Amino acid sequence: APSAPDLVERARAAKAALGDRVFVLGHHYQRDEVIEFADVTGDSFKLARDAAARPDAPYIVFCGVHFMAESADILTSDEQAVILPDLAAGCSMADMAAIAQVEDCWEQLAAAGVARQTIPVTYMNSSAAIKAFTGRHGGTICTSSNAATALDWAFEQVGGVDGTGKVLFLPDQHLGRNTAVRELGLTLDDCVVWDPHRPNGGLTAEQLEAARMILWRGHCSVHGRFSVDAVEAARRDIPGVKVIVHPECRYEVVELADEVGSTEKIIQTIAAAPAGSSWVVGTELNLVRRLARQFPEQHIAFLEKNVCYCSTMNRIDLPHLVWALESLVEGRVVNPIRVDPTVAAEARAALDRMLALPG
Ligand code: 13P
Ligand code: SF4
Repeated sequence: APSAPDLVERARAAKAALGDRVFVLGHHYQRDEVIEFADVTGDSFKLARDAAARPDAPYIVFCGVHFMAESADILTSDEQAVILPDLAAGCSMADMAAIAQVEDCWEQLAAAGVARQTIPVTYMNSSAAIKAFTGRHGGTICTSSNAATALDWAFEQVGGVDGTGKVLFLPDQHLGRNTAVRELGLTLDDCVVWDPHRPNGGLTAEQLEAARMILWRGHCSVHGRFSVDAVEAARRDIPGVKVIVHPECRYEVVELADEVGSTEKIIQTIAAAPAGSSWVVGTELNLVRRLARQFPEQHIAFLEKNVCYCSTMNRIDLPHLVWALESLVEGRVVNPIRVDPTVAAEARAALDRMLALPG
C-alpha cells in the first residue's frame, strides 16, 4: 500500500489535474488529512449554501456524511455530480427516522385529529425522503445554526408560539427540546417524545393533544455521550473554564454549558476568545483536536475522557479521497449520490424554505 506522503502527493496531483472542474467541500468533523484538500469547510448550513456556489464545477466531492451529499445533490444542477468518497459514511441519527415510520406517525396524528394543526420541522440530519415528507406537508428544514428561527417560522404557520399549534420535530429530540425550551420559551412539559417503536408513539391521546413539540425519538450517538458529570468535573478541575457544547447534546448538559452552538459557532466563539482562555468542548473529536492545535495560546480540552470520534464522518479518509479524485481524472465518477427527481423536488421545497429564513 502507498505510504501517507505518497497519498498526499497523489491527492495534490489529482486536484491540480482537475483544476476548477472539481469542488471539494469538507465538514468540520472531517479528519485533518481530508480538510487539507477541502476548497471550503463549514457546518451543515454553510455547506448546503456553498454546494450551490460553484454551478460551473461538474464534480462536487462531498467530504461529510450521506445526508449532506444528498442535500448538495438536491441544491445543485442535474449536470453536476455529487460524490461521497465512502458510501458507508452515513449518520446514525438520520437512520433513526425511516420514511415508513414517519408516514405512519403522520397518519396516526391525522387519526387523532392533531395533524391539521401540526407542521413538520426537520433537522438537516435526515434522509432526502424525510425532507420530501417535510416539503409535502408545508414544513421546513433546519440546522443547528438556525433551529430557533425555523421553529419560530413554523409556529407562525400554525397560530404562533403562544397558540395551540404543534411542531413535529424530526429526528433529533435534543436539538428540538433545547431550542423550544431555551430559545422559544416553551416548557419541558410542552414537549413529548414520539417513539416509533411503540403503538401511538407511546403517547396517550391527552398527551398528544396537550403537546406543542412532538419530538421524534432520535439522537446523536456521539453527542448523546456527553454527561453532566463531565461538565461538573471540568468546572471542578479547571479554574475559570468555559464549557461550549453542540445543541445535539442532552438538555441537562446544554443547561450547564456556558455556550451552545453549531460547529461553525463553536469555532468562531473560540477564535474570538482572548489568549489564556480555558475551554472544554462538547462536540466531535476531530474538530476539538484541530481547535486545540489552531489556538495554542488557549487551553482547549475535550469534554469526555472516552474517545468520541463520529465513526461515520471518519470513514472519509485520504485513501478514499484519493480514489475519488483519481477516478475523476480518469473520467470515472465513483460513488455518485443521486436523489430521485420526485423526492428531490419535494425536499427542495423544504430546503428552500430554510434558505429563505431571515438571518
Ligand atoms: P453542524 O451543522 O453544527 O455542523 O452539525 C452537524 C452534525 O452532524 C453535528 O453532529
Ligand atoms: Fe450524525 Fe452525530 Fe455523526 Fe453528526 S456527529 S454525523 S449527528 S452521528
